[in-house]
Amino acid sequence: MQKVIVTGGTGYIGSHTAVALQNARYQVIILDNLSNSDTDSLDGIQRITGTKPEFIKLDCTNKDDMRCAFEKHRDAVGVIHFAALKAVGESVEKPLLYYRNNLGALINVLDMMQEFKIPCLVFSSSATVYGVPEQLPVTEDTPLQPATSPYGQTKVIGENIITDTVRANPQIQATLLRYFNPIGAHPSAEIGEKPNGVPNNLMPYICQAAAGIREYLNVFGNDYDTPDGFCIRDYIDINDLANAHVAALKHMQSGKHGINVFNLGTGRGQSVMELIQAFEGATGVKVPYKLSPRRTGDVPAIYANADRAEKILKWRANVPLNETLASAWRWQQKILKLK
Ligand code: NAD
Ligand code: WQD
Repeated sequence: MQKVIVTGGTGYIGSHTAVALQNARYQVIILDNLSNSDTDSLDGIQRITGTKPEFIKLDCTNKDDMRCAFEKHRDAVGVIHFAALKAVGESVEKPLLYYRNNLGALINVLDMMQEFKIPCLVFSSSATVYGVPEQLPVTEDTPLQPATSPYGQTKVIGENIITDTVRANPQIQATLLRYFNPIGAHPSAEIGEKPNGVPNNLMPYICQAAAGIREYLNVFGNDYDTPDGFCIRDYIDINDLANAHVAALKHMQSGKHGINVFNLGTGRGQSVMELIQAFEGATGVKVPYKLSPRRTGDVPAIYANADRAEKILKWRANVPLNETLASAWRWQQKILKLK
C-alpha cells in the first residue's frame, strides 16, 4: 500500500480525508499536535473503514520531531498538509501565533519533502485568498485580493512559498486546493466537526442553536446587495471535499504537473437565510435566530466556478445539500449524547 502523510489529520477535514484515502487503499499516517482536535476521530475512522491510521503526536513547527516522523515514513508518496490554526478573529489578535504556526509548519513540511524526496504535496488553501471578488463566480484566474486577516495572509503567503519551492525543485509537485465553505459530517456520524467553545462558523452555530445549546443564531447582516439581503457562500459537503484530495493526489501521481490550483465548491451560492431554511426542511428542526448587524470583514457574496477540478481531476461535488445538512444534524445529536 502507498503511504500518505496527513498533517492535521485528526481535525475536521483531515479525518474525512483519511477515510477517503483509506477507502482508496492508501496507508494513512497522521501527524497532529491535537491543538484543535482529539484522538476520538481515529476511532471514528476505524469504525468507518476498519483501519485505524497510524498516529504520531507532534507539532509540525518542531523540525526535529518532523524529521523523525518523515524518516520513519520516507517511502511516503505524498503529503496532505492540513495542519493550521484557522480562527479568523483570533488571528487578528494574535498574528504572530498564526504566522509562526501556519507558515512554520508549512516550511518544515516542504523541507522534509526535499530532504526525503517525497514528490507530491496537497495544500489546504481557502477561498479567503479571493478577498471581495469583483466578479462571480470566481475562477482560479480571478485576481487574488489582499487578505483581510492574518489567517488569510497565511494562505496567500503559503501558496507563494509552495509555488517558489516547486519552481526551485522540479522533483516536487503541488496542488493548492482553495476550499469554499465545508459543512456536514460523515453520513455514519462517526466523525464530524468539533468546534471548541462558541463556534465562529455558521453551520456548527446553526446546529448548536437548533439543539438548544445556544439561545439563538445571530444572522449577521440583512442589508447586503444580494437578492434577499443576506450574505452568500458556497457550502460544500465535507465528504465531497475529502474525495477531491484523493483525486488531486492521484492526478499528481499520474505524471509531472508542477503546480496546480483548484477551487473546491459546488458552483452554487446559498444565502444565510436559504441555508437556515434548507436545514429546517432537511431536519424538521427549527433554528431560532435574530437579525444582527453585519460582522466586520464579511465578504457579501462568493461562490466558486469549479469547472477546472471537474475537467482535470474528474471531480465534482455530488452530495445534495439536504443530505449534507442532515449529516451535520446527526453528528450534532451524536456529540450531545457523548457529553
Ligand atoms: P481543524 O482545526 O479541524 O484541523 C486542523 C488540525 O491541525 C487540527 O487537528 C489541529 O490540532 C492541527 N494543527 C494545527 N496546528 C498544528 C501544528 N503546528 N502541528 C500539528 N498539528 C497542528 O481545521 P479544518 O477545518 O480541518 O481545516 C484544515 C485545513 O483546511 C486548515 O489548513 C484550514 O486553514 C483549511 N481550511 C479550512 C476551512 C474550513 O472552513 N474548515 C476552509 C478553508 C481552508
Ligand atoms: C458564513 C456566513 C456570516 C456565523 C470563514 C473564513 C474562511 C474559511 C471558512 C478557513 C457569513 C454568516 C456566520 C454566525 C452568521 N475558513 N454567519 N452567523 O466567513 O465564509 O469563512 O470560514 O479557511 O477563511 O473566513 O464562513 O461560516 O464564518 O460564515 O450569520 O453566527 O454565515 O456572516 O455570511 P466565512 P462562516
